[in-house]
Amino acid sequence: MNFPATRLRRLRRTEAMRSLVRETHLHPSALVYPLFLCPGEGVRKEITSMPGVFNLSVDEALKEAEECAALGIGGLLLFGLPAEKDEQASGAWADDGIVQTAVRAMKRNRKLDSLLQITDVCVCEYTSHGHCGIVTRDGDHFEVENDSSVALLAKTAASQAAAGADIVAPSDMMDGRVAAIREALDAGGFHQTPILSYASKFSSAFYGPFREAADSAPQFGDRRGYQMDGANMREAMREIEQDVAEGADMLMMKPAMPYLDVIRAARERFDLPMGAYQVSGEYAMLHAAFERGWLEPERAMMESLLSIRRAGADFIVTYFAKDAAKVLG
Ligand code: PBG
Repeated sequence: MNFPATRLRRLRRTEAMRSLVRETHLHPSALVYPLFLCPGEGVRKEITSMPGVFNLSVDEALKEAEECAALGIGGLLLFGLPAEKDEQASGAWADDGIVQTAVRAMKRNRKLDSLLQITDVCVCEYTSHGHCGIVTRDGDHFEVENDSSVALLAKTAASQAAAGADIVAPSDMMDGRVAAIREALDAGGFHQTPILSYASKFSSAFYGPFREAADSAPQFGDRRGYQMDGANMREAMREIEQDVAEGADMLMMKPAMPYLDVIRAARERFDLPMGAYQVSGEYAMLHAAFERGWLEPERAMMESLLSIRRAGADFIVTYFAKDAAKVLG
C-alpha cells in the first residue's frame, strides 16, 4: 500500500464511482415499521416525544399500512393498547384483542399482501402494573414470575398466529419462552409461523418514549430483574444460544445504536437472520436534534440506519421506516 501508487481517494471522486464500490446497502423491504394500535375509530393521537408516530385505531392503522406497502416496506410490528388492563393481561391473548383484531383486518386487505404482519409478544401493555409478566407481591418486594408468565406468552403467541400473524416476536425476556411458544404454535397447527426472538434485549433508558406510546411504564420497580444488564456481552451471547436451542427462527437485537458491538458479535457467531430495533429513544434523540437544527435530518437518519446494517443486522425495525423508504425511493 504505497503512496503515491495507492490513492484511496480515486474511488471516491464521483457518485457513480462511490456507488460501484459501496459495501453496505439499505432497502425498504428490509425495514419494519412499528404501529401502536388503540381502541376506537378515527383515532390518530401523536406521541409527544416521537414526532410523526401515533396511537392509531384499527381503521387509521389500515391507512398507515397501505402507505407502508406502497413504499415497499417489509413489514409492520404491531403493539396494542387494550381498553382495559388487568393482572392476568387478558387483553394480550383474547381472541378479540386489539392486535388480533387488527391482524385480521390487515390480512383481509389485498393491498397489504407484501407487508409482513409481525406481532409483539409481551404483556406489559396489558398488565395493570406494566411489568412483562405475572407479578407476585410481598410488602415492598415484588417478583415477576417466570414460568406462569411464559404460559401467558405462549397463549398470546398462539392467539396472534390464529388471527393470521406472519411472524411472532417475543420481547419479554422470560427464560424458556421460545420453546413454550414453539410448542403452543405447533399444538395449534401453526408449524409454519416463525419466531423472531428478542434474544438479547437490554434494560435501557432508550425505551422511555415507547412507554408513553404503549402506556406500558412499570407502576413500581423496573425491568432489571428480567432484561439484560448493558454491561454484559458474554451473557448476551448465552441468551442468543439459548433462544437458538429453543427453536428461534430469527433474532432481534435491541436497542441498536448503543449496542452496535453486540450486533457485530452476534453476526459473527450466529447464522440466523438477525434484525435490530432502533428504539424509541434513539428516534426521539435524533428528532430533538433535528428540531433544533443541530443535525441534518435526512443525512443523520440514513447514517444511523447504515451503521446498524454495517454492524451486521439484516433488517431494521425503525420509526424512520417510512421516511427512509421515501429517500431510498
Ligand atoms: C415491551 C417492549 C418495549 C419495547 C418493545 N417491546 C419496552 C420495554 O421493554 O419496556 C421498546 C421499543 C422502543 O423503545 O421503541 N415488551
